[in-house]
Amino acid sequence: MKAIIGTDIKKAASLLQEGELVAIPTETVYGLAGNATDSRVVSMIFQVKNRPFFDPMIMHAQSIEAALPYIGDFPDVYKKLADIWMPGPLTLLCKKSPLVPDILTAGSDKVAVRIPNHPLTLQLLKNLPFPLAAPSANPFGYISPTTPGHVADQLGDKIPYILDGGPCAVGVESTILDYRNGSLIVLRKGGVSIEELEVLCGKVEVMDETENNPAAPGMLKSHYSPATPLRITPPYMLLNEYSPERIGYLGFQKRVESVPANNQFILSESGDLREAARNLFTCMRKLDNAGVDVIAVELVPDHGLGKAINDKLRRASV
Ligand code: TXA
Ligand code: MG
Repeated sequence: MKAIIGTDIKKAASLLQEGELVAIPTETVYGLAGNATDSRVVSMIFQVKNRPFFDPMIMHAQSIEAALPYIGDFPDVYKKLADIWMPGPLTLLCKKSPLVPDILTAGSDKVAVRIPNHPLTLQLLKNLPFPLAAPSANPFGYISPTTPGHVADQLGDKIPYILDGGPCAVGVESTILDYRNGSLIVLRKGGVSIEELEVLCGKVEVMDETENNPAAPGMLKSHYSPATPLRITPPYMLLNEYSPERIGYLGFQKRVESVPANNQFILSESGDLREAARNLFTCMRKLDNAGVDVIAVELVPDHGLGKAINDKLRRASV
């Protein structure tokens, strides 16, 4: 099989209706989508991604109204959040209804719900009588895809169709929130920043260092990794171990002198964290294909989307 890349929503919808998988654009990253209500289809997604069954998937719907039959309750604080970020880069954990298969939630009684903010995918969802299960469209543990080409490179021979919605506008995954005992808890830092959440809802808890944390089973410490070892360090610190041309550099604003210019990728020359988030995964992929032996990375300022970027970089590092 060789995936066709195109913008044909009807074709994508009919493949999904037939129980096939289709890669879909969202504003965060591309998703590997299938019928969320069909256990067989969901299990195919796990297989294609080579993802362990303990790692649950997000259910994508066209609107909260469309998601309601699949969720048990929707607390008031979620309504406030949904008014702003649904559609948007936010995922909310909700009690699941019996319509949601256990395989989707890895046995949890909560389902992760998201309304992606991408016109093609919203249109696609409107054409379907079911919500879509969609993890990021990358092999388990690798960098998430933010262009149709990224998806084709890695999963192109395993799926029939990639819906082309261009490069992703946000570039990092959705922020995942849970609501427990009256508190909001951030399970994954992502496209909605902690500061933005706190303006709306007051102080939120942030779950850090989540290795083997049962509340966020997919948040393994090592994740989003390029095949090339990635180290959080200024590149000159690696010069006693590697020659300069063997070192790649991922910087925030400025190039360095210690390694060749060809091996360097800059996230945002103007220092804009949103631009940096948009460029992050593409730069990581380019560095992974640059033929270097090690990638030196410097963290970005730790506020706004910088927190999500730094979280991804730490998880990608060895
Ligand atoms: O931006 C995104 O959220 C993208 C796009 C495609 O929507 N999706 C995405 O999915 O990042 P994925 O599968 O790569 O990561 C979703 C993570 C899981 O690893 C898991 O940690 C968490 O969401 N998750 C999903 N369902 C959960 C549940 N019921 N309870 C706890 N965590 C859950
Ligand atoms: Mg993922």
